[in-house]
Amino acid sequence: MKDQSLLNILRYLHDKRGFDFNGNHTLMLTRRLQKRLQATEVKNGHEYLHYLKDYPKELDHLIDVFTINVSRFFRNSIVFECINKMVLPELILGKLRKKEFSLRIWSAGCATGEEPYSMAILLKERLKKQEYAAIKPSIFATDIDQLALAKAAEGIYNFDSIKNVKFGILERYFTKTEQSFQVSPEIKEMVQFTFFDLLDKNRLSPPNSIYGDFDIIICRNVLLYFDAAYQKMIFDKLYRSLKMNGYLILGEAELPDSSTKKQYKKINSCSKIYQKIG
Ligand SMILES: C[S@@+](CC[C@H](N)C(=O)[O-])C[C@H]1O[C@@H](n2cnc3c(N)ncnc32)[C@H](O)[C@@H]1O
Repeated sequence: MKDQSLLNILRYLHDKRGFDFNGNHTLMLTRRLQKRLQATEVKNGHEYLHYLKDYPKELDHLIDVFTINVSRFFRNSIVFECINKMVLPELILGKLRKKEFSLRIWSAGCATGEEPYSMAILLKERLKKQEYAAIKPSIFATDIDQLALAKAAEGIYNFDSIKNVKFGILERYFTKTEQSFQVSPEIKEMVQFTFFDLLDKNRLSPPNSIYGDFDIIICRNVLLYFDAAYQKMIFDKLYRSLKMNGYLILGEAELPDSSTKKQYKKINSCSKIYQKIG
C-alpha cells in the first residue's frame, strides 16, 4: 500500500511528465525516493513535493532513480547464444525463402544501450555471409529514461559493461580508450534510440518504427518492476507489435501470465524465448 505522500508525488510526476509509476512495486519506489530525499536534504515526501515544484529539474533525477538502468553486453549470455544459434538462422532462412528482406527488432526498455548493441553485433557477424547479404536489419531501441538514452547514443562503456564480450568481438567492434570502450560506428549506426513509454495508451510501438510488425522483441528485466495488471498491459502491447511466428525474449526472472502463455510456445527450456503462435 503506497502512503499518501508517495501517491501525491506519483500523481505530480504523471501530471508533469505523463509517466505512470503506480504499477511499480511500493517498496522499490519508497527506497528509491529515499535516495532523492537524502540527496536534496529534504525531510519527508510532503516537503519533497514542494521541492519538486520549486526545482522542476529535480523531476529528471526522480525519474532516473525510479527507473533501474543496470545492463551489460550479452547479459545472461546463454540467451544470446540461443538467439544466435536458434532464432537468427531460422528467421533469416525463412525470410530468404519468402524473399522478404527486412528484419525488424525492438529492444523495449533498452536502458543504456548494451542490449540492442549486443543484438547489432550478433547480426553483423551473422550477416557477413554473402548469401545473407540481402537481409536488411533495423534495430529500434526505446526507453523512458532520457539520461540513459543519451548514454546509449554515446556508446561509451566501462569494463564492467563489456565483461561478457568475447575477445575477438571486442577487438572488432570496440575502440579502447584510457578507461573505457567505445562501440564502433558500424554497430552504432545499426541502432536507432528513441524515447517510448511502454505504458503509453495511444501507441503500440516506437513512432519512428512507423508500424510495429517486429520479428523479435526483446523486453528483458523491465516487466519485473511492474505489478500484474501493468505487466498485462505491456504484454498485450508487445503481442500486438510482434509478427506471427516472431520471437518475444524476456528476462530470466520474468514469466508471461497464463493468458499470454497460450499465445506463445517456448522455444527451449534454458531461456525465456517465446515464439508467437496464436
Ligand atoms: C533494468 S533495465 C533493463 C535493461 C536491459 N533490457 C537489460 O535487460 O539489460 C530496465 C529499463 O526499463 C526502463 N523502463 C521502465 N519503465 C518503462 C516504461 N514504462 N517504458 C519504457 N521503458 C521503461 C527503465 O528506464 C530501464 O532503463
